[in-house]
Amino acid sequence: MKIGNVNIDGNLFLAPMAGVTDFAFRSLARSFGASFSYTEMVSSKALVYDNQKTKDLLITSSNEKPVAVQLFGSDPITFEKVLKLQELEKFDIVDLNMGCPAPKIVKNGDGSMLMKNISKAQEIIKTCVRNSTKPITVKMRLGYDKDVSLDFSKMLEDNGASAVCVHGRLREDFYSGHVNLEAIAKVKANLKIPVIGNGDVFDKNSYNAMLETGVDGVMIGRGALGKPYIFAELLGEKVKFDKFSIIEKHVNMLKEKFSEDYLSSYLKKHFLWYLKEETGANKVKIEICKEKDLNKCMIILKEFLKNGI
Ligand SMILES: Cc1cc2nc3c(=O)[nH]c(=O)nc-3n(C[C@H](O)[C@H](O)[C@H](O)COP(=O)(O)O)c2cc1C
Repeated sequence: MKIGNVNIDGNLFLAPMAGVTDFAFRSLARSFGASFSYTEMVSSKALVYDNQKTKDLLITSSNEKPVAVQLFGSDPITFEKVLKLQELEKFDIVDLNMGCPAPKIVKNGDGSMLMKNISKAQEIIKTCVRNSTKPITVKMRLGYDKDVSLDFSKMLEDNGASAVCVHGRLREDFYSGHVNLEAIAKVKANLKIPVIGNGDVFDKNSYNAMLETGVDGVMIGRGALGKPYIFAELLGEKVKFDKFSIIEKHVNMLKEKFSEDYLSSYLKKHFLWYLKEETGANKVKIEICKEKDLNKCMIILKEFLKNGI
């Protein structure tokens, strides 16, 4: 598929997930067949203020091409400034977050609140398209408290968006209930630009159900937690892998950029996700939660994954 002038070799998208999809995890997902990935959402305001922690979110790996930066915010002038930053040059696509439901984001008028403030969203998409040579895409939900997905996505297309990704839920749903595939199909049927469908894809059946909406691409979020190889499974590839070596790659890539101190707490959730489908892992999970030393966590994981199953 093609988004603007960017060729994407395949239809599987790894969802941006703040605090989860670090560059190493994305690199693993790409090695297992994800065709496209995004940075975690990045505050446009913090980038303008040159915040180092925010700039760390812009790290990408060599196999992550093409790749998008995802920005959030609601001030068109700030977006205009960010789009001029040299740090954004390496990205092929700029994605705008208009779907985040988190209270600390919506209270500032950002994320999914923009689906309630269509004139502001229009101003932002117009500004970004005018000030960038790269395709601008938008990740949205169905609406804030009612389904406005058709009008909203058409507005984005009319103002120059190169693609939209639709998570088939309202902001007020957060993650409850089921994804609304009919609403996604309706957006797809009425737009000319590529539409990426998102929500509740965890296996081949849910992947096929999403494809039946007619979407051009399918985005996977929670289904990839602890399972960067889900993309190979969805592609029907029989890959043989050793889970500990996946974890080791993840950790070693991050060690090149971040301190062990930081990683020992950051990586705990990933370790627990990697163990989620392992039987008899309860004791090991408790040990991992208690252990403060990253290298000791790795020894515990190695012993369990090599001998425990
Ligand atoms: C922990 C977490 C963090 C997320 N962070 C982002 C984000 O930074 N940007 C974004 O557009 N969506 C974010 N999302 C939403 C996902 O990209 C995706 O739309 C949502 O999880 C639904 O897809 P799924 O059912 O495949 O998980 C996040 C979701 C989770 C669970």
